[in-house]
Amino acid sequence: MLKIGVAQADFKLADTQANLSIIRELLNQAADTGIDVLVLPELANSGYNFEDIDQAALTSEEADKGPFCALLRDWSAAGRLIVGGLCEQSDGVLYNSAAVYGDGRLITVYRKAHLFANEVTFFKPGNDKPPVFDYRGQKFGVMICFDWFFPEMARSLALRGAQIILHPSNLVLPWCQKAMLTRSIENRVFTATANRTGVDRDLSFSGFSQVTSPRGEVLAQADGESADVVWAEVDLNAADNKMVTKQNDLFQCRRPELYDDLCG
Ligand code: ACM
Repeated sequence: MLKIGVAQADFKLADTQANLSIIRELLNQAADTGIDVLVLPELANSGYNFEDIDQAALTSEEADKGPFCALLRDWSAAGRLIVGGLCEQSDGVLYNSAAVYGDGRLITVYRKAHLFANEVTFFKPGNDKPPVFDYRGQKFGVMICFDWFFPEMARSLALRGAQIILHPSNLVLPWCQKAMLTRSIENRVFTATANRTGVDRDLSFSGFSQVTSPRGEVLAQADGESADVVWAEVDLNAADNKMVTKQNDLFQCRRPELYDDLCG
C-alpha cells in the first residue's frame, strides 16, 4: 500500500521565494502525514499567468540545478517519490515541465506536450512521450494539466503499464476533475491531479485536487480554496486488473485497426 498525496495552494506569480515557502509548508504537511508519493501543481516554482516571456525566464530554473529542484530532491531522500511542476530553462529555452525525484535522485523530467492558450508564447512544447517509470516495484506515468484534454496521452501511459497517472495542473477550464475520473475508468488506472488555487492576474484556478481509482471512485479530494494536502492509501496493483467484465479485457478488446486515423 502507498499513501498517494496531492498538494494544492495559491502560488504567487513570479515570486520564487514566496513559492518556495509555500512548498516547504506543503512538504512538511505531507511528511507529517506519512505520504509516500506526492504531486505538486504545475509551475509551482513560478506561478502561471506570466505578463511576458522575461517574467517567465526570471522565475525559471535549470532542471536539477535550482532551489525548487533541491527541495524536491531533499524531500524525496527520505524514501519518497515526488513530482512537481517546474518552469524549466534549458539552453535559453523555457519548458513547462514536471520534475520527478525518488529517493534523493532525479528520475525524469517531462516537458508538457500540449501547451494551453498563452503558454505557447512562453514555452516550447516537449517532443517526448509522457514517461512511465518504476519506483518501488510500481509503475508511474506523468502528464501535465492540459494533456488531460487528449485522451491518447492517458491511454498511451496505460498501455505502457502505468498504474497511476501523476498529473501536476493549473486548471482553468471546469471539466478536468470529472474527465480524470473518466481517464481512470477507461484505462483502469489511478490518477492523482494536483491543481492550484487562487488567481494569477485574470485567471482563476479551481483547486479540488484529487486522487481517483480504476473503479471510478474519487478517493480523496481537496476543496476549491484551501492550501492543503489530501491523500489516499492505495494498492496500485489493482490497476493491473483490466477485466471490465469476464468477457472484456480492456486492452484485448481494443480494435486499433478501426482507430488508425487517430495516428497522423
Ligand atoms: C493548463 O494546461 N494549465 C490549463
